[in-house]
Amino acid sequence: MSLYAIGDLHLHFQSVLKAPAQLHDRVWKNHEEKFRKNCEKLVGEDDTLVLVGDHSWGRSLPECALDLAYIRDLPGRKILTRGNHDMFWDAKKTGQLNAQFQPDLTFLQDSYEAYRDYALVGTKGFTFEGPFYLDWRGRIIGWDEEAEIHAKKLIERELQRLRKSFEAAKADGYRKYIMFLHYPPTNILEERSSFTDMAEEYGAEQVIYAHSHGESRFHDSIHGEFRGRTYHLVSGDYLRWKPLKILE
Ligand SMILES: [Fe+2]
Ligand SMILES: [Fe+2]
Repeated sequence: MSLYAIGDLHLHFQSVLKAPAQLHDRVWKNHEEKFRKNCEKLVGEDDTLVLVGDHSWGRSLPECALDLAYIRDLPGRKILTRGNHDMFWDAKKTGQLNAQFQPDLTFLQDSYEAYRDYALVGTKGFTFEGPFYLDWRGRIIGWDEEAEIHAKKLIERELQRLRKSFEAAKADGYRKYIMFLHYPPTNILEERSSFTDMAEEYGAEQVIYAHSHGESRFHDSIHGEFRGRTYHLVSGDYLRWKPLKILE
């Protein structure tokens, strides 16, 4: 029994592909096929696979039907969290999605899922991504402050959702946590953030995140040990479509 994670599949079996990189970068060529084969090799029926957002380019549930069917047909128990491109998933209507897709898929929002004696908690998260202003040497000398104010509001809402998830697990007696975000836990200016603070507050052992894809983004946030927790980037192209084992 093992726990795996990956993010940013950006499937488009029946919708319009919106990222040119997916057409031109070799890593994205037949990525659905590469990922399926890797899962079939690694993930057993009693394993759990957490998919941390940006599942599909579809703008509505009918436009995601084939993408969700592809995920359903992967081996193991599948848990999905929200990404910024998952237009089919209104956070407030997560109950309806679960009613429609369980037991094949579990959509995690404002709650937790058990894995051995761990609680898997998470939310989409949010990160201020600029625009940043650079000098002629490429050093950051400023940023869009209005966009930053807006980002702070979204971060606040996501922190509330994350706390709900932790508290639901805690109320049920869980004391060991793995925390999943779609966005990186920090922006490129930060060493720590409210998300790393919350991971520390509850004692999450690992923080798993995605969203940073394309080589230039792989080091936007924390990798490895930081203030007592372990951070892993699991965007699909970073992992070359091989899900990362998080726990035995
Ligand atoms: Fe993405
Ligand atoms: Fe994303």
